[in-house]
Amino acid sequence: MPRRTRLAILISGRGSNMAALIYAAKAEDCPYEPVLVSGNKPDAPGLDLAEAEGVAVERLDGKATGFWETLHEKLKAHGAEMIALAGFMRIIPRDFLEKWDGKIVNIHPSLLPKHKGIGVHEAVLEAGEKVTGASVHKVIPKLDSGNILGQVEVAVMPGDTVETLADRVLIAEHQLYPKVLSDYLGRFSDPEWLTEQVAQRALALPETLAKTSHGSPAWRVGSKSSGKFFAIMWIRHHGEDHVGLLVKCAGQDEMAGLIEADPDLYFRPQYYGPSNWIGIRIDRPDTDWEHIESWLYRSWVECAPARVAKLHKAAAEF
Ligand code: GRF
Repeated sequence: MPRRTRLAILISGRGSNMAALIYAAKAEDCPYEPVLVSGNKPDAPGLDLAEAEGVAVERLDGKATGFWETLHEKLKAHGAEMIALAGFMRIIPRDFLEKWDGKIVNIHPSLLPKHKGIGVHEAVLEAGEKVTGASVHKVIPKLDSGNILGQVEVAVMPGDTVETLADRVLIAEHQLYPKVLSDYLGRFSDPEWLTEQVAQRALALPETLAKTSHGSPAWRVGSKSSGKFFAIMWIRHHGEDHVGLLVKCAGQDEMAGLIEADPDLYFRPQYYGPSNWIGIRIDRPDTDWEHIESWLYRSWVECAPARVAKLHKAAAEF
């Protein structure tokens, strides 16, 4: 079973989108797991439902001093890796956003970039739109303006009122949110997507080519006949549930030190013996791809024929 992303959901009200996210996560293959529901209203009705469904709840008061700090601490304490806003009616301050950079998504009841902010359905009816909808997007400092991850269209019917339209858009929202979040988070445990991320970076290094190693996607440096492997995908080998990348480190001491310092990130690949291949997990939503790039480069330098590495070093120093 691929690892599930630990999802926190923030609400301010009834939490029907929250419910849709929770129920979708009951499917075995859902790539996220709701680990916390919280928000700025300690008595939001959605919190009772989350509790009844066995999801941890933190009842915070948005008016209390230090609210954002407390919320951040609670999210950390519950091990949240991603945050889904579902009718969370507070503007998020910049320093909080920076702490969760790229890890917050929101659902908005319009076809963004149309009709940002509140009063969406009134605006849609007033503008005489024939079609409206809902959007799931990344949250950035500018309101309702982050990258759109998915949208669904909803027809506006003659005679629609704000209420009838809101009800119908909500049905569409409930379908959209879990689907988009699952597709988005599913990538991080999808071996194909992960292999593609590594391939792009490995093949950007000089004199490299892709070649499988014992059936795993892998990359070599040097000539076609005598090149050496410098990176190998580790895709749920030997019953483990994770996807990683094997690269060459300096030696057994370095490997032991890295694994001890960060056992969630580094691992010793089974059956590779004292060959200095170290495993790095890459199937997490917070994978630092620049860090992976620097490991690929180190491993490439280690494995490149002296001629190639020397030339490259000279060029880098130049
Ligand atoms: C939804 O329409 C959502 O798009 C908007 O706020 C509403 C929340 O409804 N951001 P609910 O609390 O999920 O039922």
